[in-house]
Amino acid sequence: MKKIYLYARFQRFWHWMQAFIIFSLLITGLEVHGLFNLMGYETAFHVHNLFAWGLASFILLAFFWYITTGDFRQYLTEGNLLEKIMMQARYYLIGIFKNEPHPFKKNEISRLNPLQRITYLMLTLVGLPLQIIFGFAYYYFNELVAAGMNPGWIEPIALIHTFLAYMLVGFVIMHIYMTTTGHTPTSNIKAMITGWEEVEE
Ligand code: HEM
Repeated sequence: MKKIYLYARFQRFWHWMQAFIIFSLLITGLEVHGLFNLMGYETAFHVHNLFAWGLASFILLAFFWYITTGDFRQYLTEGNLLEKIMMQARYYLIGIFKNEPHPFKKNEISRLNPLQRITYLMLTLVGLPLQIIFGFAYYYFNELVAAGMNPGWIEPIALIHTFLAYMLVGFVIMHIYMTTTGHTPTSNIKAMITGWEEVEE
């Protein structure tokens, strides 16, 4: 076995901040939705908006970091992407239960498998931005109507925002399960905390 450095300090900071903000958004969002009473509707409503601004700012900061450091290259896949995604999906559905080796080996310049690449890319470039845009449209709805938006749009905006929130809950559950499928059940999480991971030579 040898140790490799996979996650720079900023990345670990960004990842855990993002997780903290998303959990806070889920809790305050569910309270605004009326599922329970923790801090009171008014407070939950304002805290939810504050965390949304925090998340949007962090995403922009992370974009800046990934682009200026060149680390975004970790997300590009050479060759047939679909074929590679299928290989990885087959491993998670079948190979992993037969103790087969991981189809893609991890190293410093390629830490994510093709399925992780496409999932995280869709999440960061499509899912989260859409969720933030619909959330802001909902929060600032009165201002938008005053500026000329059709008031009838409130319902689809609310439904899409809630639908995407439940999709995000689905992602988090899958994501946490998937992080246990590394070399040992905790090796990926350790790497996201310390930056270092043990891999086969
Ligand atoms: C709550 C929202 C979360 C989001 C949006 C999120 C998003 C991400 C993203 C985008 C990456 C890829 C980072 C990169 O390599 O460039 C990642 C990796 C990772 N995340 Fe999360 N994460 C969340 C929560 C969590 C939680 C709660 C845990 C563990 C308890 C976790 C554990 C990990 C680990 C171990 C990795 C390393 C790579 C892997 O195994 O896929 N994450 N996460």
